[in-house]
Amino acid sequence: MKGLILSGGKGTRLRPLTYTSAKQLVPVANKPVLFYGIEAIAAAGIREIGIVVGDTQAEIRAAVGDGSRWGVKVVYIEQDAPRGLAHAVKISQPFIGADPFVMYLGDNLLSKGISQFVDEFARERPAAQILLTRVPDPQMFGVAELKDGQVVRLVEKPKEPIGDLALVGVYMFGPEIFESVNRIKPSFRNELEITDAIQDLIDRGLTVRPHIVEGWWKDTGKLEDMLEANRLILDLQERRIDGTVDAESRIEGKVVIEAGAVVERSVIRGPAIIGSGARIVHAYVGPFTSIGNDVEIQDSEIEHSIVLEGSCVRDLANRVIDSLIGKNVKIYRMPVKPSAYRFMLGDNSEVGIRW
Ligand code: TTP
Repeated sequence: MKGLILSGGKGTRLRPLTYTSAKQLVPVANKPVLFYGIEAIAAAGIREIGIVVGDTQAEIRAAVGDGSRWGVKVVYIEQDAPRGLAHAVKISQPFIGADPFVMYLGDNLLSKGISQFVDEFARERPAAQILLTRVPDPQMFGVAELKDGQVVRLVEKPKEPIGDLALVGVYMFGPEIFESVNRIKPSFRNELEITDAIQDLIDRGLTVRPHIVEGWWKDTGKLEDMLEANRLILDLQERRIDGTVDAESRIEGKVVIEAGAVVERSVIRGPAIIGSGARIVHAYVGPFTSIGNDVEIQDSEIEHSIVLEGSCVRDLANRVIDSLIGKNVKIYRMPVKPSAYRFMLGDNSEVGIRW
């Protein structure tokens, strides 16, 4: 069995971060989202993983390397443009060959991993097995209709209700899928859709099995979901203080402070993580916050946020909440008059100011 992780794409919903960085490398609890996927596949006993990459391939190759860190062998498959999930499958055929494989969207997170899902597929060996979860807003997702324990129809963002079982970003396929991805035509958004390819398997009379996900699943493709994933993962961590904390500081609850981080005259209320080389001085870091390596938080308050490495938040009058702050960003109060806002923001940045 092989693994296929999709790490190309446009990442439009996470701009401006995705202008300069791969969205699969945005950290959740200070670890790139993509690494959770690699770990889940390795934990399921799969040793060969192909990663589909696009414009951001240099950064992904640098972060993941040859996979030896996880005891797996990683190869990279270049996609010339984001032409759809089924297109990613199509170009991966030389790597997959005749093996069954698990396809994992590189920006997805699953609390319980995929081992049970992979074992079930190996046991039953249908043409495909899809992971499903109940959602309150099925019209926003690809939705599966089931009959007698099998998938009979897939509808992308259904207008008429056909149930509440949405497709999660993990799929298992046998080599039968290649005939389908080669047969389907691009959709109205000019992509080869994986839902069309799976529907083609059903239309060919092949078996597509559903598997309802246990625990939570998160697609981190947009800000609110990224913050929620951060919340869910931070909540699972154990308290560990390896950095330096002075006597005037208070560390409450499930907090990780990495070696080399310094906390002075501050309150850190978990769940939270402080990366190595970070400096938290006369500050408050509230629940569900991930502070990256070499970040400085000084005379400020922040909670329910993610701050990427090398950034600095200093002398702010109001608490920062619900924020995703990129690398090497500076947010500070101007020491001189006139008292005014002064911005230097990338395209598609978003700033919310309390009136
Ligand atoms: P999406 O999140 O559906 O697409 P996207 O990355 O283009 O994001 P946005 O909608 O914000 O513009 O993609 C799911 C995953 O699959 C993600 O990790 C990117 C990857 N992907 C590919 O590798 N190739 C592709 O052709 C597409 C469409 C996605």
